[in-house]
Amino acid sequence: MRALLRPRTRKTVLVIHVVASVALLGEVWGLVLLNTAATLTNDPGLAHAAYRLMPVMVFGGGIPFSLIALTTGVVLGLVSQWGLFRYYWTAAKLVLLVAVICAGMFLFDPEGMAAATESASGVPVPASDARQWGQVAVLGTQVAMLMTATVLSIFKPRAKLFDGGPRRGVQGAGGAGEEPGPAVGRARIAPWQRSSAEDVRSTTPSGG
Ligand code: HEM
Repeated sequence: MRALLRPRTRKTVLVIHVVASVALLGEVWGLVLLNTAATLTNDPGLAHAAYRLMPVMVFGGGIPFSLIALTTGVVLGLVSQWGLFRYYWTAAKLVLLVAVICAGMFLFDPEGMAAATESASGVPVPASDARQWGQVAVLGTQVAMLMTATVLSIFKPRAKLFDGGPRRGVQGAGGAGEEPGPAVGRARIAPWQRSSAEDVRSTTPSGG
């Protein structure tokens, strides 16, 4: 699958990946604020309304953003020199995103909280503090995991998980023993690196 995507297509997938991933971080942060407000308020009606609205954010933002980030992340890993399990940072991001999705599926429960803040006759009632703070803790952990993934994406630590050895077409441009990155000025540039290498060339002053 490596080098199957043209540079422009890969960049488009990267844009979708970054937008979805960072939007997911923003959505979960919004839920942290909403849950904290629902926990701190003395108005059970307000807390109940907040819990009832949260599924809109989950189904309209969290679920689609996480699935898009996961799919595009896997595609980018497979079509680039980074690979899915070649470097710790890509493997760690995969684990972190799957953990965020599992925490959302199994530990975050806005519908249950909406039910807990309503009596059988439909009158809003306070829920237990421990249960409400538990929801804040789940969401806070998700934010921490997504921030870690963002930091890993930008710093891209060089530590390798697996070293597959030299690959045809990428030697001299990030093959075994070398780091991925634009191979400007070298004779051979891997197809997935061409666009960034060309970008650098086009912005580098020549002559003088
Ligand atoms: C957990 C949520 C995620 C966040 C917040 C995130 C964020 C980002 C960001 C900001 C970049 C751009 C970095 C740059 O160009 O300098 C990026 C690139 C990348 N991401 Fe993610 N990502 C996430 C999940 C994933 C997953 C699950 C994978 C799959 C293993 C993945 C694989 C990649 C790859 C391979 C690139 C580099 C693409 C390239 O330069 O060709 N990401 N990510």
